[in-house]
Amino acid sequence: MDAHSAFMFLLALIHLLLQISARDFLSPGSSLSVERSSDVLYSPDGTFTCGFYNISPNSSIFAVWFSNSAEKTVVWSANLGRPVYTWGSKIKLNIDGNMVLQDYGGQIVWTNNVSSSNVQEARLLERGNLIVKGQGDTILWQSFASPTDTLLPNQIINGTIKLVSSTSSNRLLVPGHYSFHFDDQHLLTLFDDEKDISFIYWPNPFINMWAKKRISFNTTTLGVLDSSGHFLGSDNASFMAADWGPGIMRRLTLDYDGNLRLYSLNKTDGTWLVTWMAFTNLCFVRGLCGMNGICVYTPKPACVCAPGHEINDPSDLSKGCKPKFTISCDRKQKIRFVKLPTTEFLGYDQSTHQQVSLSTCKNICMSDCSCKGFSYWQGNGNCYPKSSLVGGVTSQSLPGSTYLKLPEALKVPESSIPRSQPSGRQYGPNCSAENQYSIANFSDISRSGQSESRFFYFYGFLSAIFLIEVILIALGWWFILRMEGRQLTGVWPAESGYEMITSHFRRYTYKELQRATRKFKEELGRGASGVVYKGILKDKRAVAVKKLADISQCEEEFQHELSVISKIYHMNLVRVWGYCSDGPHRMLVSEYVENGSLDKKLFGSEASQTLLEWKQRFKIALGVAKGLAYLHHECLEWVIHCDVKPENILLDDNLEPKITDFGLAKLLNRGGSNKNVSRIHGTRGYIAPEWVSSLPITAKVDVYSFGVVLLELLKGSRVSEWAKTEDEDDEVEKVLRRAVRMLAENVKLQEDSERSWITNFIDSRLNGQFNYLQARTMIKLAVSCIEEDRSKRPTMENVAQMLLSVDEENIIT
Ligand SMILES: *[C@@H]1O[C@H](CO)[C@@H](O)[C@H](O)[C@H]1NC(C)=O
Ligand SMILES: *[C@@H]1O[C@H](CO)[C@@H](O)[C@H](O)[C@H]1NC(C)=O
Ligand SMILES: *[C@@H]1O[C@H](CO)[C@@H](O)[C@H](O)[C@H]1NC(C)=O
Ligand SMILES: *[C@@H]1O[C@H](CO)[C@@H](O)[C@H](O)[C@H]1NC(C)=O
Ligand SMILES: *[C@@H]1O[C@H](CO)[C@@H](O)[C@H](O)[C@H]1NC(C)=O
Ligand SMILES: *[C@@H]1O[C@H](CO)[C@@H](O)[C@H](O)[C@H]1NC(C)=O
Ligand SMILES: *[C@@H]1O[C@H](CO)[C@@H](O)[C@H](O)[C@H]1NC(C)=O
Ligand SMILES: *[C@@H]1O[C@H](CO)[C@@H](O)[C@H](O)[C@H]1NC(C)=O
Repeated sequence: MDAHSAFMFLLALIHLLLQISARDFLSPGSSLSVERSSDVLYSPDGTFTCGFYNISPNSSIFAVWFSNSAEKTVVWSANLGRPVYTWGSKIKLNIDGNMVLQDYGGQIVWTNNVSSSNVQEARLLERGNLIVKGQGDTILWQSFASPTDTLLPNQIINGTIKLVSSTSSNRLLVPGHYSFHFDDQHLLTLFDDEKDISFIYWPNPFINMWAKKRISFNTTTLGVLDSSGHFLGSDNASFMAADWGPGIMRRLTLDYDGNLRLYSLNKTDGTWLVTWMAFTNLCFVRGLCGMNGICVYTPKPACVCAPGHEINDPSDLSKGCKPKFTISCDRKQKIRFVKLPTTEFLGYDQSTHQQVSLSTCKNICMSDCSCKGFSYWQGNGNCYPKSSLVGGVTSQSLPGSTYLKLPEALKVPESSIPRSQPSGRQYGPNCSAENQYSIANFSDISRSGQSESRFFYFYGFLSAIFLIEVILIALGWWFILRMEGRQLTGVWPAESGYEMITSHFRRYTYKELQRATRKFKEELGRGASGVVYKGILKDKRAVAVKKLADISQCEEEFQHELSVISKIYHMNLVRVWGYCSDGPHRMLVSEYVENGSLDKKLFGSEASQTLLEWKQRFKIALGVAKGLAYLHHECLEWVIHCDVKPENILLDDNLEPKITDFGLAKLLNRGGSNKNVSRIHGTRGYIAPEWVSSLPITAKVDVYSFGVVLLELLKGSRVSEWAKTEDEDDEVEKVLRRAVRMLAENVKLQEDSERSWITNFIDSRLNGQFNYLQARTMIKLAVSCIEEDRSKRPTMENVAQMLLSVDEENIIT
């Protein structure tokens, strides 16, 4: 026997001895100690090991790992984020079945909370599941029910299970901000959980359910990776390993970079190969580069700050960048736009404009102080002003460019403008230190140095396999879908806000809302659809909770209507955060708007209220027009408000209007088809004549009501009040008709005689402080909106355009 084989024999012997001294199970009353390396449990075939795993010389976690991978790959851990000392710590199975992890001083770090009288043992099963077993084959507790960042084959993911990424590439430190679980619509989803808001980034939030090939609202929430490498979820989420087939050890891990990857173990050398991943282009993972950051494919993903911004925390690129400038809202500061070619930022569209010129788009962004820049598509003239720059990506597959709003005085070097170079040189070395690109540390996904080259080889191989997928993702995301939105008017615009909404929109329990509103104490108002209360949610958000009266729909219909409402997002519409459907209780939870409703501000007694100035009135008219235009023309589904009136127009702290109570017309509909909105829904004085005749109800009823609101804004009093001053007995409708006829005649008059009658008509409290051109336009609009023949009324889109054309902010510059 030569020295080598003697050595091998010795090694085998040691291994055997270790195997013998290791246990198969842990009986009640016994424990595993952190110091003895033999204190571990093996699964029956030795694939998995359970015990203490050192993450640094002084700290350990209690974990389950693969015995045969080159580096022990941890698949589950009890105390991620709270390691124990590598000295004196132990895990003990108490006689009541409670497993307790103790740190060296005896502090309890983790327990499985079991309390049972018939405990048999703790055991690691063949598939990597650590269980506490009772008499018979009952399972009192199992690690499969609380996974960390990894799912093993045959391990179920259901509605209560959640994978959370870790913050760094060694996977063993602290839970990170990406998670994978079923969402409110029962879809398997990847979330980017930011401080107080979660974003969905997979499946692509910008596409509709049909394109996702998923099934929502199937209450069976279940997903499993089978032993052949095929994953299937109850929502039809489905994918397959590239090396599909039996006999290969796999794991599905939500990596620290937010990508969900399926790995296969190469038995020969114990390395892991990626055989499927949610994103082939990592740049499309959400939140990689943070606020004001842009991900550039070079061809490795790298983070860079948008020009004029500087990095917040060089050690954590996902914390993004902060601006080096301030933009003041007065018009004195000179502004310019810097073009970032083939760059897009996800979501946060303030509005959507189609077939407009670049200069129009610039003006839209220029006139809105909160606009940070806009995305513009040269080909079809799509214009998307942005309120925040999040999820930036530069990629040559993107058809649009972003124009960043910067002070003219700020110098921006050409070198700080990101350019994607899929096959060119990498960024970094030559840039001046100030504008250097930070190459994100994404290269160490496969952990052993030896396997790295193989990983990249395989990565290339995979890229080839998924070439079609890459094209689909890159093009499909940005091009086909926006094109689709253009052809089928209304698909894209609604979807643009969809991402934020779905991640926010959730179901609340009755108890939660009861607590939030302190047992429905503070009433904000009441209307035909129900009573509204003020509440404060656990996360300190102020909300308005509306108890819906008279909902006779079944749960499913209710859910459907809500799924429509949940997708509606516009700055001039009150944001709906969620709902409650708990036994007999049906409620809507929406944002709380600071300044109450328009009627109180406009018609309130003079003493208690500050007068709404002209500028504010015009802004309100324009905002309401924009909000209604969005509901009528841009929503995924056609929504008629049916009850436009000052009570349903709320004002935020900037006196920006927000329409509330939209989408309720269908909810409150008692039976009948969707199109057949219940009769007489509106409010006297604001309802169009077709409500009382038997004509079908269209969006034009809102145009009519808007016309009345316009008149009230101009005159500063309610139409119903006009009736009182003229003739007690006259009906509101008659008085209104007379007023409109008078106005219509006057509008036709010549310039010079005009001034006096307009001044007479406008709210006298304004003391003649109003913009003549705007007033004239508003009167003309109101007259045409209140046309009895609805085909003669303009659409809300026309109305918004007319108002925009006389908006001062547009005329200057
Ligand atoms: C581990 O603990 C020892 C003793 O407390 C200490 O001297 C040593 O610096 C620690 N090592 C690390 C890497 O923290
Ligand atoms: C055990 O109970 C504690 C306190 O209720 C809880 O924080 C902990 O998460 C529970 N552990 C498990 C494994 O459920
Ligand atoms: C989810 O699965 C775990 C274990 O696989 C189980 O303990 C738990 O009860 C399941 N939850 C639901 C809601 O089915
Ligand atoms: C389910 O997924 C498969 C494959 O992705 C797809 O062909 C099928 O159309 C989907 N079914 C539905 C109902 O979307
Ligand atoms: C829900 O999903 C389960 C599991 O995939 C399936 O068996 C069931 O038929 C689905 N139900 C509906 C209503 O689609
Ligand atoms: C597994 O590793 C061996 C040795 O490094 C290598 O020859 C083989 O090609 C690998 N298998 C796969 C599928 O990559
Ligand atoms: C960048 O570096 C390369 C080689 O390192 C050099 O050829 C090139 O001229 C440099 N570019 C600039 C702008 O300095
Ligand atoms: C990337 O991460 C690895 C492992 O965490 C580390 O060793 C390496 O220094 C990092 N590289 C950079 C450039 O930060």
